[in-house]
Amino acid sequence: MKAIITAISGDGIGPELIEQALLVLDEVGRKYDHEFIIHRVPAGGQALDASGVPLPDETLLTCRQSNAVILGAVGGPQWDHLSADLRPEQALLGLRRELGLYANIRPAVLHPALSHACPLRPEIAVNGIDICIVRELTGGIYFGEQGTKPGRMGPAAYDTEIYSEGEVERITRIACEIARKRDRMVTSVDKANILHSSMLWRKIVSQTAQAYPDVKLEHMLVDNAAMQLIRFPQQFDVLLTTNIFGDILSDEASMLTGSIGMLPSASLGDKKFGMYEPVHGSAPDIAGKDQANPLAAILSAAMMLRLSFDCEKEAAAVENAVTQVLARKFRTPDIMSQGMKPVGTKAMGELVLRALY
Ligand code: IPM
Ligand code: MG
Repeated sequence: MKAIITAISGDGIGPELIEQALLVLDEVGRKYDHEFIIHRVPAGGQALDASGVPLPDETLLTCRQSNAVILGAVGGPQWDHLSADLRPEQALLGLRRELGLYANIRPAVLHPALSHACPLRPEIAVNGIDICIVRELTGGIYFGEQGTKPGRMGPAAYDTEIYSEGEVERITRIACEIARKRDRMVTSVDKANILHSSMLWRKIVSQTAQAYPDVKLEHMLVDNAAMQLIRFPQQFDVLLTTNIFGDILSDEASMLTGSIGMLPSASLGDKKFGMYEPVHGSAPDIAGKDQANPLAAILSAAMMLRLSFDCEKEAAAVENAVTQVLARKFRTPDIMSQGMKPVGTKAMGELVLRALY
């Protein structure tokens, strides 16, 4: 197989992590006889510094001409003073919107070797955690009407949570399809006791899920879901939710897995094309120090192999390699604990790479 991959290293720890993910992909290519052609382009703060915009047209064009995108992270304090439309984060929103990536898949898995790193009580953590968050990614309050106007107590600013039926329907189908390959259960999370957009969300999710009689559907209010994730995370299989609730709940779920440094994600549209990125941010405080955990980036590359290239066995090999390295007690600082072997970013990447054999 031959595939074109656009690599966006981004800011902070992004570059050192993407480096490791690309080395692993390179090795997978050698081992399984695939050719991965890498096109590197800037976005986020990196692009702002070079060209004054967070998402240059050439970057978008290169992404469109490739089979998949792998992205490190964007953002950092040096760009925080910029106006909303010039912030590095706009690159992410622009990529999601322009590439039609409406489905964000964020698996939160607690590796058995890391169960001590889970902040929950051992008797809860010991049962493992395996939740797949399906977050709507191109609608809701992130993309609704926004602005400023006179308010009750002086000048005000507003953002609008808005969902159309079609948007809810297509993300529900994705969640149900994923559930079919797992434990056949979808929990849809909303705020339907208050928000009109959530009332529509709930109605359309229910209607759409009728086409999947083998998948059990449940609805849960978001405040309760935040609580249930901590109380009894094993009750969830696929957690389907809106853009903003998914943003918040995926960070919460990530903590359950021991470290946000472990979580990969895929952003998909209607075709095989996808954008793959770690759930964590750019962590400027540890950038360039060889301390960041490259596993989320490497696991994102595994998701790319599976979802965009149909390379199931290659994806499983990468995931197994990660599991093995953890079982052999190697740990980056974020998941370090007593009796474990501390390693840096590069060493961790190389261990995974060698564990492929
Ligand atoms: C995420 C991030 C982004 C989001 C930010 C950086 C725009 O938090 O991918 O979860 O809110 O979607
Ligand atoms: Mg987030």
